[in-house]
Amino acid sequence: MAFWLWVLLAAIYMFLTRPITANNERAMVPLMNRQENYPFAFSTSWQVLGPFQIGTREATWGSDPLEFLGGFRALEYDQNAQFRSSIPVNGTAKWSVIQAKQTTSTATSANASLSVSYSSVDWDFLKLVYGWAAVQYQAWARGEIIIGGNEIQHVILYTDWILEFWVNDTHYFGGDFFTFRKAPPVLYLTPGTHRIDIRLVRDVRALGGINNPTIDVLVDLQKASGTLELAKPGILMSDVVDGRLASPAGSVVLRNSGEGDVEIVHVQSSDRNANSSVVHNAAKGVVIVAGQTRPVAFNVSLPSSNSSSISYIITYKLLNIEGPLSKLTISQNLTKVSSYDPHKITYFHPGGMVSYAMLRPPARNATCKPAHNATLPILLQLHGAGLEADNGIVAHALDSVPDLCSWVLFPTGVTPWSGDDWHNWGFADVEAAINFIPSWINFVGWEGPNVDVNRWIVSGHSNGGQGTWYALTHRPDRVAAAAPVSGYASIQKYVPYELWQPMDPRRTAIISGSLNSYRHEMLMENAQGIPVLQQHGEIDDNVPAYNSRLLSQVLFQAGTNSNYYELPGQNHWFDTVMTTDHLKDFYRAQTTSTDQIPRRLQNFSFVVADPGDMGPKGGLRVTHLEDPGRYGRVQVIGHVVQTSNVQSLELETQFGLTNTITIDEQDVEMSQANTSGGSSSITLLKTEGVWKVRSANQERSCSLLTNQVDSLSADREYSGENSVLRRRGRQLGTMTAILRTRGPFIIRHQGPQTAHIALQVSRNLHQYFSAEAEILVTESLEDISGSGNVISVAIGEVPPGLHPDFPIQAGAFGVSVRDGSGRLQTFGGHLAAGAAFLRPLDDERLELVLWGVNASGLSQAARLVPTLTGVGQPDFVVLGEGARWRGVEGAPALGFLDHMWSVTWSSVV
Ligand SMILES: *[C@@H]1O[C@H](CO)[C@@H](O)[C@H](O)[C@H]1NC(C)=O
Ligand SMILES: *[C@@H]1O[C@H](CO)[C@@H](O)[C@H](O)[C@H]1NC(C)=O
Ligand SMILES: *[C@@H]1O[C@H](CO)[C@@H](O)[C@H](O)[C@H]1NC(C)=O
Ligand SMILES: *[C@@H]1O[C@H](CO)[C@@H](O)[C@H](O)[C@H]1NC(C)=O
Ligand SMILES: *[C@@H]1O[C@H](CO)[C@@H](O)[C@H](O)[C@H]1NC(C)=O
Ligand SMILES: *[C@@H]1O[C@H](CO)[C@@H](O)[C@H](O)[C@H]1NC(C)=O
Ligand SMILES: *[C@@H]1O[C@H](CO)[C@@H](O)[C@H](O)[C@H]1NC(C)=O
Ligand SMILES: *[C@@H]1O[C@H](CO)[C@@H](O)[C@H](O)[C@H]1NC(C)=O
Repeated sequence: MAFWLWVLLAAIYMFLTRPITANNERAMVPLMNRQENYPFAFSTSWQVLGPFQIGTREATWGSDPLEFLGGFRALEYDQNAQFRSSIPVNGTAKWSVIQAKQTTSTATSANASLSVSYSSVDWDFLKLVYGWAAVQYQAWARGEIIIGGNEIQHVILYTDWILEFWVNDTHYFGGDFFTFRKAPPVLYLTPGTHRIDIRLVRDVRALGGINNPTIDVLVDLQKASGTLELAKPGILMSDVVDGRLASPAGSVVLRNSGEGDVEIVHVQSSDRNANSSVVHNAAKGVVIVAGQTRPVAFNVSLPSSNSSSISYIITYKLLNIEGPLSKLTISQNLTKVSSYDPHKITYFHPGGMVSYAMLRPPARNATCKPAHNATLPILLQLHGAGLEADNGIVAHALDSVPDLCSWVLFPTGVTPWSGDDWHNWGFADVEAAINFIPSWINFVGWEGPNVDVNRWIVSGHSNGGQGTWYALTHRPDRVAAAAPVSGYASIQKYVPYELWQPMDPRRTAIISGSLNSYRHEMLMENAQGIPVLQQHGEIDDNVPAYNSRLLSQVLFQAGTNSNYYELPGQNHWFDTVMTTDHLKDFYRAQTTSTDQIPRRLQNFSFVVADPGDMGPKGGLRVTHLEDPGRYGRVQVIGHVVQTSNVQSLELETQFGLTNTITIDEQDVEMSQANTSGGSSSITLLKTEGVWKVRSANQERSCSLLTNQVDSLSADREYSGENSVLRRRGRQLGTMTAILRTRGPFIIRHQGPQTAHIALQVSRNLHQYFSAEAEILVTESLEDISGSGNVISVAIGEVPPGLHPDFPIQAGAFGVSVRDGSGRLQTFGGHLAAGAAFLRPLDDERLELVLWGVNASGLSQAARLVPTLTGVGQPDFVVLGEGARWRGVEGAPALGFLDHMWSVTWSSVV
């Protein structure tokens, strides 16, 4: 959230300075007087029940005390009812009735904003004891949607700052916790009254920890077209630089608010001379199922170099129905800039959709014009939470240092919250933007200095300061220098996890272990050899300076080269926060530094939480951990290597490959390695305590074997050596590894009974990650032709996966889990309502299975699809019904899968 205060102030400023027009006045009709005249309305009175405790990002697990009583939906307002609760006076929560802060209705929309607060809690005292964890709490609110007239209305429902709600008996999980407003559900509402129950969850990162802890939410209904329509943010395309497009990739977000599935046939320029863009390379077009919001990529071309806008016609038809083609016209005004200004470039995220970044090429008169064909590094500036990169305060933050000897890139991380806080999804976007620069150079015919895409100076503010730590600790061989500003060390250090529901320490360890890769305070040794400049405002009440002070101390103890500048009297943000004198000097010095990158290091240590998101350091890459629930560690002194919890590693040339290395007191002959045949790296593998070189040949035959296995049908019996399905690369990590997809997600499900959840998964992936997903009804893996990761949604029987002897099986009987010792444990009845677990697919793809014994169990499992950071989903989770109120303690089995897809010892089974 990093930026919430600023954003709030800006919003207030914009509100105060908005032009007051006749239109604006006309829209403001108080609901109470005119409600019967409008087809849409929300009730002005709301029944509220709370407060109850909730831990940081815990709500995803359930942990709702009212579920113990059958859920809020089963309770009716009762002024005298009392509910036990850990935070209010007398330990009792009660019903109350509040008036919406504002309700507004027009002919095509209605909204209601609620502001809930509790004086029955001594917040200040609780905060003294539990800190910011204390001002996060939960409650429920019940209101009504009133549909006038006598027609069924197709509407979309925005749910700002809301994670979960019910409309009558239909449950919606995911909501819009950060007010992205990208993927609202489509509802078909009959005339009359519909009950809406909203779960209120307070989050300090989103709403702040200093002021009165109110929960402010907004529900907003908008009439939908009932067919294919343009969704926000509409068209994404590059800026026009010096009369030509900066990049050709364009994208339009479309929503199907009708009741039948729609297929996009093509996207065609309305200019007759321009080329049409056939969507997708497959024979089939892009299908947008009823209710789905989906981005569609197309190639943009300018009608002429002096055009001021583009216009495209989208041709579509109802799926599987012979009928006329329909058309939707979209247009977009062009933004024209000089190629030297920060401007928008578009490119493909590995998830298959188009993303953007702001690029500032090296200045025309930068004093460092390379004498020979040198290349310049990239200065990355990562933005704070709640901001778009094309916002001037991001893209123009470095205008006062126009003459840097570098490229400057302001990535988005895909969303204002940078996907998953600049981690798997967000950082993949940074790397895609970086790797696009050479294409930009070709495309616009740039004649200035070239780019070194492997040499980065990373900086960023707030959430972007945290992203800078992520880059530093996870890509140490790319980072020439780093300047994290006002960032947090880890989400647990930002807002403590104290008030989660009580749980067994082994379960705590699994949740915490699932977040290992994002605890920068544990990874500071990875910064050895890299210059770091830290800066933080002394009185920052948004991200406390404690975060930077802690990392400064840990950096010192790790023997790194770092400086910490604390700015007296400064808060979180001010105009020139990214261009203080220290920072300007640092940018200038580090962009012109002649250090060789990657650095060749003699002595260093390397800490790895998840090999799937970790680059090499000093030419050494950890490829597998023994127990993925714990950190792995490597200590290097010359050619003596000490490891802990490491199962295999890879040495690249700049490690300094010699004849022999000593690893864990064993001498290993490197000459065994066949480094010819193109491969310049050596893989070392530990088997039963003995380290051995794995030759390039072995590697090849192994992957050949895997390919063979992969191409065989799924019911094949495996035995002996051939049963090997090794978990590797992008498959490693926790459930968030599903985000390392190559290509759009594929959501496969069973039909009408699973359609609601399939749609919810697609909505959440688009809402929180701007991701693209294809929804398919199929049992067979063979029907799934895309390259993306698969999310399988199932009630009753789980469709077969690639691994025939997978340790986790789910079906009408419940769930069985084969633990590390081969013992089979079966969970049934209330202990196995639902389950979520990863399974392997070929080519390093993954499948995430969401299973429920019935529809309600499935909706429990579907909560665990990664959306918010900090939830801590491990590789597999079996959910009992009790998780609804007990949270993680209500999961009878959860934990990790190792490099052979076996359940680890550290799991709870
Ligand atoms: C305090 O809690 C007790 C037990 O839950 C209840 O009987 C009593 O009515 C409550 N008192 C007030 C003032 O709410
Ligand atoms: C509520 O709706 C009205 C009318 O469309 C609009 O002017 C107003 O901005 C909306 N309020 C919020 C908080 O979005
Ligand atoms: C909600 O329930 C009411 C009363 O039973 C009914 O009239 C209405 O159609 C329901 N709405 C939806 C969306 O199911
Ligand atoms: C249309 O495509 C052709 C072939 O790819 C290309 O030569 C031509 O320049 C394109 N026209 C426009 C207006 O982009
Ligand atoms: C866009 O153009 C490129 C290069 O001409 C082509 O490979 C790609 O398939 C096109 N994409 C779409 C969506 O039309
Ligand atoms: C483009 O600009 C014109 C004139 O400024 C404006 O009327 C129009 O609404 C804009 N169109 C879009 C799609 O933004
Ligand atoms: C070139 O340098 C001058 C003086 O430093 C500066 O005012 C001007 O903006 C620079 N021009 C460009 C294109 O960077
Ligand atoms: C260096 O750049 C010049 C001018 O751009 C070019 O003619 C020459 O081929 C380049 N030399 C090398 C070795 O890349």
